[in-house]
Amino acid sequence: MSVIQQSRAAENYDIFDLSAPHATWKLLREEAPVFHDPASGYWVVTRHADIKAVFDDYQTFSAEIAQAPMTPLCTEAKRIIKEGGFTSGLSARMPPDHTRIRKIAQTAFGPRRFKSIEPKIEAIIDRTLNDVAKLGQFDFFRQVAYPVPALVLFTMMGIPDEDVPKVKEWAVSRALVTWGNLSEEDQVIHAKGMVDYWAYCCALVAARKAEPQDDFPSDLLRAQADGADITDEEIAGVMYSTLFAGHETTTTLMANAVIALMTNRDAWDEIRENPALIPSATEEILRYCPSIVSWRRLAKVDTKIGDVDVPAGANILMIMGSGNRDDAVFPDGERFDIHRANARTHLTFGYGIHFCIGFQLAKMEFGIMLRELTKRFPDMMLTNEQQIDYLRNISFRVPLKVEVDLGLGGAA
Ligand code: HEM
Repeated sequence: MSVIQQSRAAENYDIFDLSAPHATWKLLREEAPVFHDPASGYWVVTRHADIKAVFDDYQTFSAEIAQAPMTPLCTEAKRIIKEGGFTSGLSARMPPDHTRIRKIAQTAFGPRRFKSIEPKIEAIIDRTLNDVAKLGQFDFFRQVAYPVPALVLFTMMGIPDEDVPKVKEWAVSRALVTWGNLSEEDQVIHAKGMVDYWAYCCALVAARKAEPQDDFPSDLLRAQADGADITDEEIAGVMYSTLFAGHETTTTLMANAVIALMTNRDAWDEIRENPALIPSATEEILRYCPSIVSWRRLAKVDTKIGDVDVPAGANILMIMGSGNRDDAVFPDGERFDIHRANARTHLTFGYGIHFCIGFQLAKMEFGIMLRELTKRFPDMMLTNEQQIDYLRNISFRVPLKVEVDLGLGGAA
């Protein structure tokens, strides 16, 4: 029997508001764990077990809408995107193409590439933290969390330093068109940004084909030359996916982590005294304040999620940020605890066939950042009376700034 419960939290739900969602998500888990939100047309899923089940059943719950614009596009924006000639990246592709392309992409994320990137990550973090140490007080989001993952990823992807600002800008266009709520005028501006971004990925693949280098697109082209079944356009699609997925997410993780640790001082002090806690602290941070709090699927047939009937064609929003605090899996789930034994069963990187391909890179980068921050700036704190605002969209819980004071006394 289908059970749809009444819930005030469900009635007042605003799918784009990520400013302080945890109390609402808790109520939803208790009162209406799967409900239809008439304002957005989405079925919202908040319990850990239900989210995992949806992720796990890729045939019933297709990923094809993972990158669809959340707000329907106007005719002009649609035309620009259509003429841009896109192909899908990875996260919205379906088997068998997804299986084939992902297998090849994974070879370029192997231990060899990670080993070679680690010292480069250390150098980028060292340089960035040396610069901010001179400031004493600054916006951690803008000056540390924003540039570091981009510089790391773009080094790995073979993007020259002078192109970094425009690629970062295009990534914002892509995020806003896909997950935001833009006016028609802005849709046109950002649709052009997405098309430029796609053209850039295609040109980069062509350039590496002509002249291979020691980077990710050249690795994929070498695999192709050795017989791997992947076209140039599919390689550009993987670049397009990865160039976006690989930096905004890690930027947000770093910024959210600083907020969590500055407001849970005991944990910060413990990590500072014992850096061996960094791996378990990283898992708890990923659980407690994930960068991506929700992700989408499309029901292909009439089905059920938990006890609730969901029709074929239903758009589904899984709130991993809520599942990550579900008491059924994480006792006292609203509490931040870097000793939590099962923190790594969080849903922050998704689950199943689309599980995040860059999770090791994200954890490695974050671990180095946490080690260096606790070592160099033990007295860092959030500046007083700071209100932290978050980007308005459905998936990325991004603080707009995180002002910190390094407590260095006198640095200016
Ligand atoms: C804290 C950082 C990160 C978070 C929270 C995150 C989260 C996610 C999530 C939720 C998905 C969708 C999973 C699913 O549908 O089951 C995903 C997929 C993906 N991620 Fe990440 N990610 C992060 C970092 C990265 C990095 C560093 C890279 C690349 C360098 C990356 C590349 C990708 C790609 C290519 C996919 C698509 C995989 C597929 O569809 O097979 N991500 N990520």
